[in-house]
Amino acid sequence: MSTVYLNGAYMPKAQASISPDDRGFLLGDGLYEVTPFYQGVPFALDLHLKRLLKGLCYLRIDYDVSGLVAMHHELISRNGLAGAERSMVYMQITRGAAPRTHYFPEIPVTPTVYAFAKEWSRPADEVWNLGFSAATVPDRRWSRVDIKTICLLPNALAFQAAKDKGADDAILVRDGVAIEGAHQNFWAVFGDTAVTHPVTGHILPGITRGILLEEAREAGVSVEERPIQVEELEFATECFFSGTTGEVRPVVEVDGRPIGDGTVGPVTRRLSDIFLARVEATKKAEWVAAS
Ligand code: PDD
Repeated sequence: MSTVYLNGAYMPKAQASISPDDRGFLLGDGLYEVTPFYQGVPFALDLHLKRLLKGLCYLRIDYDVSGLVAMHHELISRNGLAGAERSMVYMQITRGAAPRTHYFPEIPVTPTVYAFAKEWSRPADEVWNLGFSAATVPDRRWSRVDIKTICLLPNALAFQAAKDKGADDAILVRDGVAIEGAHQNFWAVFGDTAVTHPVTGHILPGITRGILLEEAREAGVSVEERPIQVEELEFATECFFSGTTGEVRPVVEVDGRPIGDGTVGPVTRRLSDIFLARVEATKKAEWVAAS
């Protein structure tokens, strides 16, 4: 039985209970983060918490985040995941429980903070090397998806629509532009340049995306942030997704048509290697600091 965190206490999951008046449950009034751990070492936890803080400010949820780093470590440890190759902490903060109104509660409420930890794995190399497929689906989300709210119904419907078409994942399309995936950012390679949508209210500014941009620039890999027209994908030589539990995930087929020659290309492989090297460097730095 996994140990979860709820409002300041650790407990077996079966003992965790949340009020039916919780505004997260009734209205989707809350935020979440998914932070990866590699062999017990958090990866970019500071950046995840910074994004969370931005969301808390936007939603005007008054919550002191100072204990969250310790809570993440504690959950990993209590669930026996400190040695796991890959694990993660899912954390969500809602405005709290209050009589249902569309406006904010007039009396102060305490936010509900819930978190759990679990293991995840990267696809086997044989699978990753074949690449994945994606289907384009209309993006029906609101125009502030840069705020990582728990309102994921449009994402879930889009992912399901892609699955129904037999694809592995969805590419959300707005006004002819391939915006991002249902749970990952989207990239396409033109020539030797890896292109991804700029940060606007229409994409989630992925932590993985940001790190890839930074590391690519450092390594001299050409990158560009600009909208990608779906029609352009015909000329893309490679495509891939980036995200916490996907890392760099090659896409070799969109809407049943091959991208480039239909195999995982060199830019995707290079960026994947660069990303995994950053993970290794983070682990080493943490171990050196702790020794
Ligand atoms: N998804 N875009 C969307 C819509 C996302 O939901 C996510 C993350 C990303 C990638 O962001 P990051 O690199 O910070 O993980 C992009 C999380 C992991 C999820 O919903 O499980």
